[in-house]
Amino acid sequence: MTRLKNQKAIPLNCMAASKTSAQALQAENQKLHREIEALKQQLKKLEHDNRESNEGIQMLFNDLYKKHQKLQVIDKLKSDFISTVSHELKTPLTMIKAGISQVHDGVLGDVTQDQKEALDGVLEGVNRLTHIVSEVLDISKLEGGKVRLKKQTVHASELIEKVLKPSALKANVKSVRVMMDTAVGPDQTLVCDPGKIIQVLTNLVDNAIKFTPKDGRVTVGARTDAKNFEFYVQDTGIGIDKQDISKLFVKFQQFERAEPLGHQHGTGLGLAICKEIIELHGGKIWAESELNHGAAFHFTIPQ
Ligand SMILES: Nc1ncnc2c1ncn2[C@@H]1O[C@H](COP(=O)(O)OP(=O)(O)OP(=O)(O)O)[C@@H](O)[C@H]1O
Ligand SMILES: [Mg+2]
Repeated sequence: MTRLKNQKAIPLNCMAASKTSAQALQAENQKLHREIEALKQQLKKLEHDNRESNEGIQMLFNDLYKKHQKLQVIDKLKSDFISTVSHELKTPLTMIKAGISQVHDGVLGDVTQDQKEALDGVLEGVNRLTHIVSEVLDISKLEGGKVRLKKQTVHASELIEKVLKPSALKANVKSVRVMMDTAVGPDQTLVCDPGKIIQVLTNLVDNAIKFTPKDGRVTVGARTDAKNFEFYVQDTGIGIDKQDISKLFVKFQQFERAEPLGHQHGTGLGLAICKEIIELHGGKIWAESELNHGAAFHFTIPQ
């Protein structure tokens, strides 16, 4: 037993035990130290790998960016090419149409009934071609950011009337009634590019007539709230499958089920053009429909 001054005696076996536990502690300490060193090495390696992968990501990003810029240049060249070709096609097409109409109407001499009927077919083809060319030209100009809106204050009812008058003829042929919602007041005005909004309404009304069977109805209306002016075109036609509604405004989407009733097939660009025009105004366009229960197209113009 050992005894220190003023201290209690410590048994020898206790001292041996504390020596052993001190050694154990030191061993544990060294072990921890080694583990910390190993972790530090791992951390260093991770940092290195991370730096390398960051550099890799940066290189990949630079590469993608260059490719994206190249694609943008190619895309612009393509749009410019389409715009130029469509524009160049428009003038000769107008001349061809004028020439055929003159022959058809007997301005250049007598025409037999057979010849007239043949020329009717040619005129129909020329009209269809003109429609395709002008839609392709419109979409390429809109997508290329080349359209500037000419905004002014206009009466909603006047815009609707300008659309309904020429449409009435097409509608009458198949006994579809086209009308303006009586709720549209003569004092309802909005600020927009009237030519462009007439183009949107015309396509919506044309579609409504195209996909509405005999004795159906097409209604064009407008309403306003504090922020927006809203137009709608509603029909009692064949409607649109729920799964197709989200694809309506995508270029060249035409749905197999939607056979134009008594009309020629369109180009499938009309609604994509409408979307571009409305978005250029800062508005939204959408459709609500159910198969066999008609369709309603709405669009807003912020005021
Ligand atoms: N009121 C509607 N009722 C039912 N289906 C519709 C209606 N409006 C559009 N659709 C469907 O959406 C498709 C796309 O319409 P969109 O106006 O873009 O092209 P289109 O009328 O076929 O051709 P165009 O380019 O000559 O307008 C139509 O072909 C039709 O399948
Ligand atoms: Mg259309």
